[in-house]
Amino acid sequence: MSAPVLTGPSAELDDLSVWPASTARLPGGNLSVGGVSLTDVAERFETPAYVLDEGEVRARCRTYRAVFPDADVLYAAKAFLSRAMVRWIDEEGLGLDTCSAGELELAVMAGFPAARIVLHGNAKSPRDIETALRLGVGRIVVDSPSEIARLAAQVGSGGRQKVMVRVVPGVSAGGHEKIRTGTDGQKFGLSLTDGSAQHAIARVLGQPQLELTGLHCHIGSQITDVKPYLVAVRRMVGLMARIKESHGVTFPELDMGGGHGVAYRAGESALDLTALARRLNGKLSASCAAAGLPVPRLVIEPGRAVAAPAGVAVYRVLAVKPTGSTMFVAVDGGMSDNPRPALYGARYAPRLIGRSTTAEPVATTVVGRHCEAGDILAADVLLPGDVRPGDLLAVPVSGAYQLSMASDYNLVGRPPVVAVHDGSARLLVRRETQEDFRRRDIGA
Ligand code: LLP
Repeated sequence: MSAPVLTGPSAELDDLSVWPASTARLPGGNLSVGGVSLTDVAERFETPAYVLDEGEVRARCRTYRAVFPDADVLYAAKAFLSRAMVRWIDEEGLGLDTCSAGELELAVMAGFPAARIVLHGNAKSPRDIETALRLGVGRIVVDSPSEIARLAAQVGSGGRQKVMVRVVPGVSAGGHEKIRTGTDGQKFGLSLTDGSAQHAIARVLGQPQLELTGLHCHIGSQITDVKPYLVAVRRMVGLMARIKESHGVTFPELDMGGGHGVAYRAGESALDLTALARRLNGKLSASCAAAGLPVPRLVIEPGRAVAAPAGVAVYRVLAVKPTGSTMFVAVDGGMSDNPRPALYGARYAPRLIGRSTTAEPVATTVVGRHCEAGDILAADVLLPGDVRPGDLLAVPVSGAYQLSMASDYNLVGRPPVVAVHDGSARLLVRRETQEDFRRRDIGA
């Protein structure tokens, strides 16, 4: 049973192009994702709740495997991690990119093979490194000169750890200044232009405890254009050629990081993965041929593009406030479950669900329940003019960097994660409770 598609002025509100592929219209203005009604999710698990479409995550992993058949695809765990996610990623044949002992432990506890895990971090703690070595991670990515000797010492004289070196290729890309990591003047990696990358590589090559398998770069996040990757790969191959000249070594792999952009609203463009694969592989082969280098195995690390489009946040409206020029609709979550609008000016498209209406769309600002004016989830979006307390709003493309960056601000408690698949819903991560807060707060 499906509801009719809207036409006319309300059609913009009815666009499902950025929703999970499984999304279907139900009667009464409702939607289902993974065969599960969103209003049922709200009833059963209460709000706010995050819905994760298992089929969408798996399909996105499969797309990566199909489009990059000869590459190692590592899912960037920072986008969203839970035991179920670890299992899906494993079953779909991807590796994992982690950046803390916490992510590493969770993944390995959930059964992920440590050899397919990479550890990143611009400031790895002794515990991060100890955990990585104890669990036997596949690669550790060296990010600063000071960690080289420390890492070698922790590995110990009898051991040998595979490592990569993170290089800053001098390419600016990404959806916001705070998530651009490809140029000098930010905290990650070792500069290609001032020679610190070459210097660090020489030092790593001099450590018998470290086996340098290749170079790494991650130029930024929410990138929707292929070109910056092509510039970066050319420069990385240039560096590999210089290393061969000066040290006589060639590397078996090259990690080009993640950053693949997605559409958050209808009409926005996502990074074209097919074009990326074709042109990146082409540029890599051509650059290597020109430099007389063997073509290294490509490694990529998508996070957002796997997880974001599989997630939907479901909120209940608590208050509606028409002010001079702005209609404020306040929901029961906010910047504690989604700090992205406040941090990066991210733009989302919430949708009224669970009720049909013929009310004309009006410009609305959807805000959260937190005690500051910057707690805005979606500024100046179109919603039906009769939105009222008790209504449900659902926000697509909520699967990455929302819950993984969620906080306990105002002790509201972080929302649950509900997996939906083939018509059934199951709780993956439960809602944070007052009891959780009491248990951590042990001082008198
Ligand atoms: N590899 C490395 C080394 C990274 O640092 C990152 C993301 C990724 C891969 C995955 O990037 P992705 O494919 O997800 O763009 N909190 C920000 C994004 C920060 C990205 C940090 N590093 C946001 O919400 O937009």
